[in-house]
Amino acid sequence: MATDLTAKVLDVLSQTDEPILSTDAFPSTPSSEIKSALDRLKSREMVAYETLDKDEAILTPEAEDIAANGSHEAKVFEAVLQAVEGMKISDLPKAVGQESAKIGRGKAFKEGWIKKDNDILRANRESITDTSREQLQTIQSTRTHPDPKILNDLKKRKLVTMHKVISYKFSKGPKFARQFVKEQTDLTAEMLASGTWNTVSFKPYNFKSMGAPTGSGALHPLNKVRHEFRQIFFEMGFEEMPTNRYVETGFWNFDALFVPQQHPARDQQDTFFISDPPYADRPREDPQETQHLPNGSASEPLPKKPKQDYEQYFENVKEVHETGKYGSIGYRYPYNDDESLKLVLRTHTTAISTYMLHKLAANPRPARYFSIDRVFRNESVDATHLAEFHQVEGVIADYGLTLGGLIGFMEVFFAKMGIHRLRFKPAYNPYTEPSMEIFGFHEGLDKWVEIGNSGMFRPEMLEPMGLPPDMRIYGWGLSLERPTMIKYGVKNIRELLGHKVDLNFVESNPAVRLEKD
Ligand code: PHE
Repeated sequence: MATDLTAKVLDVLSQTDEPILSTDAFPSTPSSEIKSALDRLKSREMVAYETLDKDEAILTPEAEDIAANGSHEAKVFEAVLQAVEGMKISDLPKAVGQESAKIGRGKAFKEGWIKKDNDILRANRESITDTSREQLQTIQSTRTHPDPKILNDLKKRKLVTMHKVISYKFSKGPKFARQFVKEQTDLTAEMLASGTWNTVSFKPYNFKSMGAPTGSGALHPLNKVRHEFRQIFFEMGFEEMPTNRYVETGFWNFDALFVPQQHPARDQQDTFFISDPPYADRPREDPQETQHLPNGSASEPLPKKPKQDYEQYFENVKEVHETGKYGSIGYRYPYNDDESLKLVLRTHTTAISTYMLHKLAANPRPARYFSIDRVFRNESVDATHLAEFHQVEGVIADYGLTLGGLIGFMEVFFAKMGIHRLRFKPAYNPYTEPSMEIFGFHEGLDKWVEIGNSGMFRPEMLEPMGLPPDMRIYGWGLSLERPTMIKYGVKNIRELLGHKVDLNFVESNPAVRLEKD
């Protein structure tokens, strides 16, 4: 047992101050056992050791016999020498054995040790040196031979084989003791009081140990990517819109965006409707709302917010749908006020943008707004779609904006995320004209991927708010999930959101820098 072995090691070391070879002290113990015993002792500095590995020459059984009894030729010589009258060749096998007679006779002749008179063998000298035997005896006792040529020759003659032997040269360590003592890990009050602190053995600090992981909260990958997007927006002079309402009216989610009330996106397919209560009041000024203008700062006195006429806005929207207004012929269908007041889970954050643009209309001026928050769509759930996801959305309001400016802005915006090649494809949104789908070339995936939707808001959306007719507004949106999945190599969205998420993945995933790759 290994513990026995540690005691034995301490035992042999206590008798000497010289280093000891494990192969001498424990010739029949496997080297792995010796190593683990020495490691235990070394970790406590009781023993020091070094590992030696060398090739050892071992005699084959035939060579063992030669070392013990002499070579075949020497046996033949001895037998012939003993026979005073000489020895008949035919008697040799009887005297030395069949094999020695066969191999040894020729060699003994060659060495000139014996001669032949007719068929009588006679010794040619008084004594001989049995070199083969001496060489093998040397190897037997030293496990090697000083002359590598001889060693090689013996290997070829299959008298010697080579073996790798690991041995350990061990000696007393700085904390050597006769006994394997228990090491203390803590200094206690009792040790100080009794004075044993001075004699007990302390376990040394392990400065290489990893330390126990400390439990802590962790940001979800979506939050990390969201943080990056927010930085980009702030860098580019955007203000964050308040997105703190998941429930919207059909008015803010659709009608104000000039989405016709029969639009397919509006029916049960894509929109979650609220059942209790199913309807909201008509839009009106929120009395609890602060009197702050969207880009007012809390510290300076704020310009008084002009009162906004929501009833007029509601009527304008209705009119532009039903009969047309502001130079538009409208959709020409009977507008249903109830449809406008139906409560829904917002299907896009453009509902918030619309609300903010309406507020901007009270005091029209260039503005840049963004939001990143959750939206809901009653879609079939698969590997890349959930019924709720996050949208990153931005709007820019200014005078004299052109479509070329939107394309140019997109190039700067997406370059900040490391996407440098963009393509634009004409698309359709009820609230923008022209509209463009944005494709980016993803270097990692080596293909074009759809990264967003964009456009210039229609006059039918902006003018009912009271925004000046020469004001132009860009809008664009993209999902937060898509770049996050690409960034973190997540193939199935259910690994990112929902009950199947591995908390370990959330805890161990690295921070993300969008522009770096
Ligand atoms: N609302 C659009 C969407 O859901 C995105 C968008 C926002 C498009 C603003 C144009 C303008 O994809």
